[in-house]
Amino acid sequence: MTAIKSLVAGNWKMNGLGASLEELVALRRELEARPLVEADVMVCPPATLLSRAADILAGSGIALGAQDCSPLPAGAHTGDISTEMLADAGATAIIVGHSERRIDHGETDALIDEKAQAAYRAGLTAIICVGETKTHYRAGETLDVLRGQLEGSVPEAATAETTVIAYEPVWAIGSGLTPTPEDVAEVHGFIRATLNTLLGESQSGAMRILYGGSVKPGNARALLSVANVNGALVGGASLKTSDFNGILSAYRD
Ligand code: PGA
Repeated sequence: MTAIKSLVAGNWKMNGLGASLEELVALRRELEARPLVEADVMVCPPATLLSRAADILAGSGIALGAQDCSPLPAGAHTGDISTEMLADAGATAIIVGHSERRIDHGETDALIDEKAQAAYRAGLTAIICVGETKTHYRAGETLDVLRGQLEGSVPEAATAETTVIAYEPVWAIGSGLTPTPEDVAEVHGFIRATLNTLLGESQSGAMRILYGGSVKPGNARALLSVANVNGALVGGASLKTSDFNGILSAYRD
């Protein structure tokens, strides 16, 4: 299989004021002192901080992502932000279909597919999130749920270049719980096989599949070394550079 360079992306969610940008200054300093060879690093602060974050990260190699977007390019849509605007603010990627948006805002697979296509339209990478709820997990429906989400929310035009998949069990997000490495291996293998059916082997074999849900410095090494895990989407532990850098150290000797 093609060697895939991992990606560790930090999702700040609805956290962060101007003062939090200090964390990015510190992250830049850490990565300049101890660069990562095997993984790319990305930070997804709230939209309000994107352009200031872009200034801080310019030339650092640390990528900048947004957390959501409108599927539409412009117009009378009060409060919405287009992918073109996010690109203009300095983002190179967008998280779409995070479970907090699927659940809190009723986002459907079809809408998430449109948002991913909107990311491509503006030249941005789409990080498409999938994951089962605790109810699905308990009922043994994880793989069926994931198949439906992948079929419904990954655009036909998705390529390994433009798209990253993030597997985030809803019950693991912010809970301190994680699946076992065996379960993660099974699910990531299933996602790779499903992408193969949907997109063909040349794309699926090179596409990054991230694990997300309570990734911490203490469990990062075990989770990130699982087969078909090509990095992590990190929430809570991305807010402090000391924690985030601890996770990145899984890629250091
Ligand atoms: P968490 O969040 O790391 O705080 O569990 C992960 C996510 O929702 O992306």
